[in-house]
Amino acid sequence: MRLGIAADHGGFELKQKLVSDLKQMGYEVVDFGTLDPRSDDDYPDFVAPLARAVSNREVERGIAVCGSGVGACIVANKVAGVRAGLIMDVYSAHQGVEDDDMNLMCLGGRVVGYELARDLVHAFLGANFEGHERFRRRLQKVKQLEEVRK
Ligand code: RB5
Repeated sequence: MRLGIAADHGGFELKQKLVSDLKQMGYEVVDFGTLDPRSDDDYPDFVAPLARAVSNREVERGIAVCGSGVGACIVANKVAGVRAGLIMDVYSAHQGVEDDDMNLMCLGGRVVGYELARDLVHAFLGANFEGHERFRRRLQKVKQLEEVRK
């Protein structure tokens, strides 16, 4: 699986560890930065390119990390075709994919520890959309909201 990852300074340290883990696990990882964390860097500058890459399927799934994960999630969900969730527990990490076809996971680098983040990433990447009719119906309604926004 080809993955994308991005972080601002608040998520940089966790991103670096996750990139290394994911590569060791055999994933192809596209790093959208930052590679040079500075306290005045801005999460939209890294998360928006990642979200566009998820939307146009340049990467299959994305992981975005900022301090809380909130800003990253707000940005990612502005891009049509992205279904991002702020994830702090293992259940939501896989159920968000299974039911809601979540394609971008947001993490708070100042909120979750490294070991939990690893478990969250593992649950996210190991899950698949289950595709039941009710799940598709709900996603169709989400998609209609994107059309209205345009
Ligand atoms: C950056 O200091 C911080 O505000 C940012 O990483 C993030 O937490 C925003 O949601």
